[in-house]
Amino acid sequence: MNLLSGRNILMLSGEELKQVRGALQNFLSPEMVIRYVSKMDEEVRRHVKVNWVGHKTVKVLPLAKRLTLDIICSVIFGQEAGSVREVLATDFPAMVKAALSIPVKIPFTRFSRGLSASQRIRKLLRGIAREREMLLQQQQAHGASAADNFFAYMLALRAEGAHSLTVEDIVDNAIFLLIAGYETTSVLITFMLWHLDKEPEVLAKITEEQDEIARNKGPGDALTWDDVSRMKYTWKVAMETLRTIPPIFGSFRTATRDIEYQGYHIPKGWMVFTAQSVTHLDASIFPEPSNFDPARFENNSSIPPYCFVPFGGGPRMCPGNEFARTETLVTMHYLVTQFRWKLCCKEESYKKDPSPTPLLGLPLTCKPPQKQSALLLALFIPILLHLVTRRKYASYNLPSGSLGFPLIGQTISLLRALRKNTDYQWYQDRIKKYGPVSKMSVFGSPTVLLTGPAANRFAFCNPDLIFTQTKALNALVGRSILMLSGEELKHVRSAVQGYLRPEMVTKYIWKMDKEVRRHIDLHWVGQKTLTVAPLAKRLTFNITCSVFFGEEAGPIREALATDFEALVKATLSIPVNIPFTKFNKGLSASWRIRKLLSRIAREREAALQQGRCSSTDDFFTYMIALRSEGTHLLTVEDIVDNAILLLTAGYETTSVLIIFLLRYLANEPDILGNITEEQEEIARNKGPNEPLTWDDVSRMKYTWKVAMETLRTVPAIFGSFRTAIKDIEYQGYHIPKGWQISVFLSSNSVVSLNIFLVAHYNQVGHLAFC
Ligand code: HEM
Repeated sequence: MNLLSGRNILMLSGEELKQVRGALQNFLSPEMVIRYVSKMDEEVRRHVKVNWVGHKTVKVLPLAKRLTLDIICSVIFGQEAGSVREVLATDFPAMVKAALSIPVKIPFTRFSRGLSASQRIRKLLRGIAREREMLLQQQQAHGASAADNFFAYMLALRAEGAHSLTVEDIVDNAIFLLIAGYETTSVLITFMLWHLDKEPEVLAKITEEQDEIARNKGPGDALTWDDVSRMKYTWKVAMETLRTIPPIFGSFRTATRDIEYQGYHIPKGWMVFTAQSVTHLDASIFPEPSNFDPARFENNSSIPPYCFVPFGGGPRMCPGNEFARTETLVTMHYLVTQFRWKLCCKEESYKKDPSPTPLLGLPLTCKPPQKQSALLLALFIPILLHLVTRRKYASYNLPSGSLGFPLIGQTISLLRALRKNTDYQWYQDRIKKYGPVSKMSVFGSPTVLLTGPAANRFAFCNPDLIFTQTKALNALVGRSILMLSGEELKHVRSAVQGYLRPEMVTKYIWKMDKEVRRHIDLHWVGQKTLTVAPLAKRLTFNITCSVFFGEEAGPIREALATDFEALVKATLSIPVNIPFTKFNKGLSASWRIRKLLSRIAREREAALQQGRCSSTDDFFTYMIALRSEGTHLLTVEDIVDNAILLLTAGYETTSVLIIFLLRYLANEPDILGNITEEQEEIARNKGPNEPLTWDDVSRMKYTWKVAMETLRTVPAIFGSFRTAIKDIEYQGYHIPKGWQISVFLSSNSVVSLNIFLVAHYNQVGHLAFC
């Protein structure tokens, strides 16, 4: 443990222990935890949305561990969701596993893996702590307070002379907090769900308490300290869980000198061990101890001292108990109010490893609670929503229009218009009714619709508008560039952009040439009639597979192609995971695609490490090589998610352009004549099987103009969505934080800008991606 987590509180004694314990205790005191409730609330909501909503089965223990890690990262390290967290999430479990292994450093053992993980974690956290140190110095120069995370708090205390820990010591203590809070609270949450499944009456009471709290809150309101203080019954259930299954099985102490207990001698250097279950399951203290009965804690004073000790006792009692209580209660609130669950395996038991671990990780099926008067509610919700919106935004000048039914809003009517190709009329009708700026609700979010060139500029360039992460896209594509912001977005975007820049395109243009030739030989040559749309889609898919994943024609591509079609179909569906829906099929397909691509990416990673391939071979090797250089911190899974996004982004866009370009040429013989002339001139200068080069493509100036005219008349993407990260204004109207704005490209006559890749045609005739 010492080797893994360094010089932490467990190794201190005397004055130094007093100082550090005092600082830790203050940082975790109720007065401080009050400040963290909103951060915990935010993390729990994000977690539930990503990992529970829309999932039929979830495995509780790994999810609870990840949630506690995320909460500690946010509250203690001040580290928001992003690649740094992902690195921690990969290394940290290895380190925890090693904490109770035999400390002999032999390669490939648990201990040796844990040691390497611990070194990486410390390096990472030291970098963060140093950044905080600099920030703190700047803030102090401006007289601002900076105690918003553990690093800043401890550094500020050091500046006041309260302790003399180095940055390295502070990092070691931070790692210890992570270890102390990780497998403890997650075990408590896991076993609360385990008990609740077996105790319907207890569950009903908890549900009543939590529903009551939820009823008093507006939609989207975060839980407060007051709400947490009202969860009295839920905490009793937690205490009864801690009594029956304490996350820490016992306490060890070492005698620093010879001592005596009940007449026995305990020599200096010997250890003393007390097991919590001895008192927790003692029938003379807790009658019928095997019964699960939260009522035992109705009157805490009836429990004699040192009998209920899940958090230890005395001067070294767990200082994180309030922190653990609050995160557990916030988590239970959202799980109980949003889901009904059933254990997949009623008989699942648990082992001590050394913390209690359900043998299967506690898989359970979950679904949203069924509202009794769903129909009645459905009738009232729009009115209610209207009233809530009106009250909440009473001081805002919102554009006119209606938000319609929750979740659905105008989504169905817009999708229907798009399908019937009457979307242009749809926008015109809205503009006629509400003017050029109006409000509505599409794809699950309140949205302000803007039209015209000024709106395009506003949407594409305003720094307070970020890409909208639709629920469906997030669930299907995972953690791609669309979900990033700030510094991380900058790094990842520049890496992705690097792979798409002209110098790189020159490297893989031969692959495009090869794929197009193969496609034409197979599907066009010798055919009298053919249907362009599916062929163009398959062609762009094949090109992406070859260029991005290095995946040549074969069974893997075929498997990907089938699943990918289902994934793309699901991106514009209503994100409710009901069996046999588009969304449900898309989710299963996405899971298979990710599994397959992760395997390919890992193979490429190994090949790159062994020098069997180069960094420019495909997107995976390129991104993995950049990570080794420190350009970004994406995990292989993140890289795969970004690869899926690129595949999705390039699929129905380029293929739509090719389809409509061909249609256009079929109807415009003069233009076809000009294009043919340009292309035949290029062909004349090449040998029979010679592939096209970058120079050849640069000479296709007229052809690209025709493509641009095609994009103007039939934009491949019907509109762009952005989400406001703070309240903003457009032409006198307010757009509240969290709302979407959308501009519809076919409603104005500018060249369509693809949502994901913006292709500019510049004067020299180069195709540049930005
Ligand atoms: C249900 C959740 C938790 C349980 C059951 C628990 C239990 C314990 C126990 C039994 C001890 C004392 C061990 C001993 O006496 O040998 C301890 C110590 C400690 N815990 Fe917790 N803990 C929990 C959550 C947390 C959290 C969330 C944090 C911090 C974020 C934390 C921080 C600490 C620290 C720093 C110590 C060492 C105190 C010292 O050495 O003076 N714990 N915990």
